[in-house]
Amino acid sequence: MKLSDLKIIVTGGAAGMGAHFAQQLHAAGAQVAVGDVDEARLALLPAGIHRQRLDVSQEADCIAFVAWAAAQMGGLNGLVNNAGVLRDGLLVKKDRTTGAVVKMSQENWNKVIGINLTGATLMVRETVAWMVENGQRPGVIVNMSSIARHGNRGQSNYVAAKASLAANTVTWSREFAPFGIRVCAVAPGMVDTPMTQGMNPKALEAFIAQIPVGRIGTPDDLWLAVRFCIECDYFNGRTMDVDGGCSF
Ligand SMILES: NC(=O)c1ccc[n+]([C@@H]2O[C@H](COP(=O)([O-])OP(=O)(O)OC[C@H]3O[C@@H](n4cnc5c(N)ncnc54)[C@H](O)[C@@H]3O)[C@@H](O)[C@H]2O)c1
Repeated sequence: MKLSDLKIIVTGGAAGMGAHFAQQLHAAGAQVAVGDVDEARLALLPAGIHRQRLDVSQEADCIAFVAWAAAQMGGLNGLVNNAGVLRDGLLVKKDRTTGAVVKMSQENWNKVIGINLTGATLMVRETVAWMVENGQRPGVIVNMSSIARHGNRGQSNYVAAKASLAANTVTWSREFAPFGIRVCAVAPGMVDTPMTQGMNPKALEAFIAQIPVGRIGTPDDLWLAVRFCIECDYFNGRTMDVDGGCSF
């Protein structure tokens, strides 16, 4: 698909990679509708990008946002399914000072699953339902997974969501092929965004030391992958790792 033909939603597009994707899509001539919970940052996006508050973990929000975005753009043929959060922690650990056993809270489990998995799934469902109801084809969906989908210490909740998203990229690519809709995923390694800027600097430094290309990723590194997913009509049902070579 050509970037200039797109009428595309970007979730979590007020900051980090999503904001970069939205701006690159807009600059390439696409119509873009950004949804995010962060209304202050939404207001900072360039003029011409449609934007509205969206909490992807709320079904009613997803339904209303997709209808609104399609009306604003005069159609809808794409989704960059990017909104995501972290609530890292070991499932069970022993506190070093007190010796007490500490468990991951169900709240932290539910938060990550609610946004990164249920929310992402609702956005796929609503976007595809709109395209099918309105006879819109071709269409493309790009899910944001993670190299953590293979398993990562301290991220049970995140791993569960991102692994499921990669697996369902295969499922949905097969379910939606009859409607002319492709479904792909991108799996970043460590990328320099507000999400990683909040990490412990020592842990970040140790992680970067293990990246073969010797640096953290940039939102633009990931944009090249998102762009490939959109433009290559033969790329479907697959998850592309973009991680500087740090995963197996
Ligand atoms: N940064 C990394 O190293 C990295 C690595 C692998 C995967 N990812 C994934 O890439 C995507 C983008 O990550 P990022 O680093 O740009 O994150 P970020 O934290 O910098 O930005 C995420 C955006 O999502 C928004 N958001 C959070 N909850 C939301 C909700 N309920 N509804 C709508 N919007 C919501 C935030 O307000 C924010 O604008 C995420 O899915 C993340 O899990 C990031």
